Amino acid sequence: MELLPLLLACSLLFTVATPARDIPSVCASQISDFPHRNSSGLHLTLHHPQSACSPAPLPSDLPFSTVLTHDDARAAHLASRLDTNNDAPPRRPTSLRSKKKAAGHLDDSLASVPLSPGASIGVGNYVTQLGLGTPATSYAMVVDTGSSLTWLQCSPCVVSCHRQAGPLFDPRSSSTYASVPCSASQCGELQAATLNPSACSVSGVCVYQASYGDSSFSVGYLSRDTVSFGSGSFPDFYYGCGQDNEGLFGRSAGLIGLARNKLSLLYQLAPSLGYSFSYCLPTSASTGYLTIGSYNPGQYTYTPMASSSLDGSLYFVTLSGMSVGGSPLAVSQSEYGSLPTIIDSGTVITRLPTGVYTALSKAVAAAMGGAPRAPAFSILDTCFEGQASQLRVPAVSMAFAGGASLKLATRNVLINVDDSTTCLAFAPTDSTAIIGNTQQQTFSVVYDVAQSRIGFAAGGCS
Ligand SMILES: *[C@@H]1O[C@H](CO)[C@@H](O)[C@H](O)[C@H]1NC(C)=O
Repeated sequence: MELLPLLLACSLLFTVATPARDIPSVCASQISDFPHRNSSGLHLTLHHPQSACSPAPLPSDLPFSTVLTHDDARAAHLASRLDTNNDAPPRRPTSLRSKKKAAGHLDDSLASVPLSPGASIGVGNYVTQLGLGTPATSYAMVVDTGSSLTWLQCSPCVVSCHRQAGPLFDPRSSSTYASVPCSASQCGELQAATLNPSACSVSGVCVYQASYGDSSFSVGYLSRDTVSFGSGSFPDFYYGCGQDNEGLFGRSAGLIGLARNKLSLLYQLAPSLGYSFSYCLPTSASTGYLTIGSYNPGQYTYTPMASSSLDGSLYFVTLSGMSVGGSPLAVSQSEYGSLPTIIDSGTVITRLPTGVYTALSKAVAAAMGGAPRAPAFSILDTCFEGQASQLRVPAVSMAFAGGASLKLATRNVLINVDDSTTCLAFAPTDSTAIIGNTQQQTFSVVYDVAQSRIGFAAGGCS
């Protein structure tokens, strides 16, 4: 097989870069816009996946039903990681099979290693910019608390790259780039970081396989280079240089992993910045932040960060109660803790134990009085005619062990699914409960791994 012409063909076919967009100046944010930010942390600007300010926004015509379909796949994937009875045969991306020949540049063993199923990434994930290499170039990346390895699409895209905003990262243009050999300890850590085995290329370079769903994954070379964020740069950051990337939406270049694992961005920067990060997830009409390191501890209420032997990389919390219009839901206390509960930045809709959800749905519908009901929409079954802002919506509050609470605003309770319908932004589950990002929007949330606690503070975004 002639490798060179094939590579060239692949590059021409798959590495179509689009020019970086000019971001409107109203999108620039000031530190004063974020009352909970501590100036000694390292700060990034966060954008809603559909914000006009995002460097890589989702298509504006993306149907909300598509967002919900992907959200359900993500929730199912997170749940499957905690399912002790999960003995379904692992699946791997079909394109790895069909493109096995093209992937011959990576090791052939790559195509015979099964990947676990997972959820599509990108649709619900917030977006930031990260600098990489020397000299540093900036890339639009989705931020994910549910996964660990950071990766981005990498030239020459041996198998496949999707269209991304701005040019691809080219390792040859960075004087500090190095690929990581299979013998390095970081290569051995990939199994825990990606939940897939690593592989070794014919030339002895460590190959990672990050998978998020049947059609969503990145495979490529484990690499290290200098990472930079406006105010600081860090040498020897380990990440994936993706040669086969499929399923990312919105033209992001890749993903930043913030889960609890040695290879995550948090753990790699923690020796200099501390083991904590905080964020405010904005609405599509505002901007938010991600801070690694210092936060203002006095401004938050806290709940213990629980952990689970089922998956040590996710962030667990203990939901202890919910109220609507000041009245506790009509369910027994034990229902709230009946399922493992994680907090996740990339899940759009909060999943509650079925009993809790049913009581919430009834209480909200009753409190909305005369609002005309609308038919169910996808996974959302408590819907009303009109837009959230036109309706009288009851106060909904979520309480967590230790006294932390989220006193939800209308935008955290109802989500507009089209021009004439709004729905309760919660859904039932019998497997893993998830505190999703619609409910977290505009709160500051701190993940303090050092002190094993998660904190909430209202009014975190501008
Ligand atoms: C900001 O962070 C520093 C270092 O972690 C800490 O000493 C200080 O108290 C924090 N500021 C506030 C207002 O909490």
